[in-house]
Amino acid sequence: MKWAHIHELAPSVLDKMAHGGVFFTVKDRSGRINTMNIGWGGISEFWGKQVFIAPIRHNRYTFALLQDADCFTVSVPLGNGLDKALAYVGTHHGNEVDKFQEAHITPVEALSVPGAVIAQCTLHIECRIRLVTEMALDQMDADTRARCYGDGDAHTLYFGEITACYRTDEDDT
Ligand SMILES: Cc1cc2nc3c(=O)[nH]c(=O)nc-3n(C[C@H](O)[C@H](O)[C@H](O)COP(=O)(O)O)c2cc1C
Repeated sequence: MKWAHIHELAPSVLDKMAHGGVFFTVKDRSGRINTMNIGWGGISEFWGKQVFIAPIRHNRYTFALLQDADCFTVSVPLGNGLDKALAYVGTHHGNEVDKFQEAHITPVEALSVPGAVIAQCTLHIECRIRLVTEMALDQMDADTRARCYGDGDAHTLYFGEITACYRTDEDDT
């Protein structure tokens, strides 16, 4: 394990988010774990802290787990080795299938928060949730609203303070 600087890795993370997505993993207080794919959101500065912002729609099982969680993690495969797994967790629901078994990925304990990261990934970002805020669709420009939120299912934005960022040797590249 090697600590990493989020500012140096941000371009790689954002590139992966735009091309296939990354694993967004939540463990709730009762120990239920789920992972899904996120392609939107990003890395930012807020309140004198480094922050990861994740947009999660209400109909995700992950959203249900987030109701009772303080933390989330983002695991990034910097190569293409986990593309199939990313596609699987991005098209199936954790309350219907065991995504970890079906996608052949392993949750392992996070280092700085009571959560889990994906063992097969190269880069891990751990976050403590500092703000939860729902998108106000009535304040969104009409074009974006029609293009992305025609069904009214808004994203809730999770602002997570980055508590740890590191690379692991189990590189999938
Ligand atoms: C490439 C890709 C990017 C995605 N990005 C997001 C995202 O940013 N936010 C979101 O809510 N869903 C996103 N999804 C959809 C969820 O990953 C998908 O609905 C998933 O099945 C939800 O799993 P869950 O119900 O187990 O939580 C994305 C899916 C893919 C394939």
